[in-house]
Amino acid sequence: MSTLEVKVWRGGERGEFQRFEVPRLESQTVLDVVTYIQRHLDPTLSYRFACRVGMCGSCAMVVNGRARWTCRTHVAEVDDSDTLEIAPLRHLPVIKDLVTDMSTFFDKWAAARGQFHATATRKDDFARVAPETPQRQQVDAGIECIGCGVCYSSCDVVGWNPDYLGPAAMNRAWTLINDVRDGAHDERLAAVAGDAGCHACHTHMSCAERCPKHISPTAAIAGLKRATLSAVLKGKL
Ligand code: SF4
Ligand code: SF4
Ligand code: FES
Repeated sequence: MSTLEVKVWRGGERGEFQRFEVPRLESQTVLDVVTYIQRHLDPTLSYRFACRVGMCGSCAMVVNGRARWTCRTHVAEVDDSDTLEIAPLRHLPVIKDLVTDMSTFFDKWAAARGQFHATATRKDDFARVAPETPQRQQVDAGIECIGCGVCYSSCDVVGWNPDYLGPAAMNRAWTLINDVRDGAHDERLAAVAGDAGCHACHTHMSCAERCPKHISPTAAIAGLKRATLSAVLKGKL
């Protein structure tokens, strides 16, 4: 049986890579490799996962220099897949080993007004939103975000400017701005129009290239740029 050479980050912000040898198996995912290490080689290794099927967003790590969801990334897909280097997500504090503190990431969703503000009450009838309307199609393009942080970890602007709201929070804001049932559009546009908002995006597109759900936060941010400019011209911002 062949083996994989695996380097795994150990420690917190300060730490080092530790080497392991892991049996190579057919159809093995990167999460399988990390799980093998914890179950057979070192039970003190910390990492995070829940669903193992690409739904919960908790298993993202940097694998051979690139942020990925590890439960749906097969070892064979990774460049130079005989050797793996597995590290925690970038731009977030490391709690231990492969576990990052996601608080800042979700605080920025809140700062971008990522919460739905209903205009109807439970006594109202169901809202019917026609699937072919342009707004509904914009919602469809962004709604499947699983909050994994891959885009955030891949965005250079987040690295340069820790206040930058980042691609996931702004994708969420654009999704809600296109939700005809939501009543906080103006407030949300104001939240993303500041120095740390949509106009700070350099359109590098790393977020769109790396998103495992094939979402384009870049396109969402372009929509926010147009909407904020329009609001300024109308005297709303
Ligand atoms: S397009 Fe904007 S948000 Fe996406 S990675 Fe580039 S700078 Fe970051
Ligand atoms: S936009 Fe994509 S990469 Fe970013 S958090 Fe959502 S699912 Fe993950
Ligand atoms: S474990 Fe849930 S998305 Fe990977």
